[in-house]
Amino acid sequence: MIVLLSGMLVVLRALEREDLTAMHKWQNDEEIMRLARSFPDHVISKEALEAEFAKELKGEDTGRRAYIIEEKSTRKPVGWATIRIHQFQRKMTAADVGLALGEKTAWNKGYGTETARLLLDEVFRQLNLHRAEWWTFSENNVSVQLAKKLGFKEEARLRDAVFFDNRYHDLVVLGLLKQEFESIRAASETSRDKTTVSYLQSP
Ligand SMILES: CC(C)(COP(=O)(O)OP(=O)(O)OC[C@H]1O[C@@H](n2cnc3c(N)ncnc32)[C@H](O)[C@@H]1OP(=O)(O)O)[C@@H](O)C(=O)NCCC(=O)NCCS
Repeated sequence: MIVLLSGMLVVLRALEREDLTAMHKWQNDEEIMRLARSFPDHVISKEALEAEFAKELKGEDTGRRAYIIEEKSTRKPVGWATIRIHQFQRKMTAADVGLALGEKTAWNKGYGTETARLLLDEVFRQLNLHRAEWWTFSENNVSVQLAKKLGFKEEARLRDAVFFDNRYHDLVVLGLLKQEFESIRAASETSRDKTTVSYLQSP
């Protein structure tokens, strides 16, 4: 199997037709869909999923890249991720990144952090985009904290923008620019080099 993006804990690979069974389970899970899409009552048939991802399955470029997140140690699919290049400007400058670990046993192990970093590498260092966006509803603390940990800044709060569970919720839009991403990367690479040097120098 071809690995598209590879980290220490996870790999991101292309979505295959066989993955639709797992995707069907994840996208009919109330908790996952509340957190991932602000849409707890989301129900979707396999046929509808196949239609939604038809272009990706056929390799037709739609401006959206869909990945399956696999746990590296077991090669088990644990979630999905997307990069959605903004089309409305008719210029390739920005993309939304999104991810969801559909297997809840995969939460809190650093997989989300690593997946997001792999997506950002792709957005900035391969697609050469200028800006990444991260959208979530304001009470999704884990998502907001993860985005901030990666350097995203809160840029907008769309008041009462989504409705679910019998009330409105704010949407939070976070943004990260290429130069911010690169300076965070440079700082982490420098501190990693220092750690390696002191490790090598220790008796
Ligand atoms: C959000 C999600 C991708 C995070 O992935 P994860 O692998 O569980 O998270 P990680 O172990 O990488 O931790 C990421 C960060 O989240 C934050 N975090 C984790 N638990 C938290 C909590 N209870 N409260 C606040 N922040 C929390 C921390 O900043 C953490 O980093 P740290 O451990 O270095 O402090 C995952 O939980 C998920 O798929 N949830 C359901 C779908 C979803 O919400 N998707 C995002 C929609 S935009």
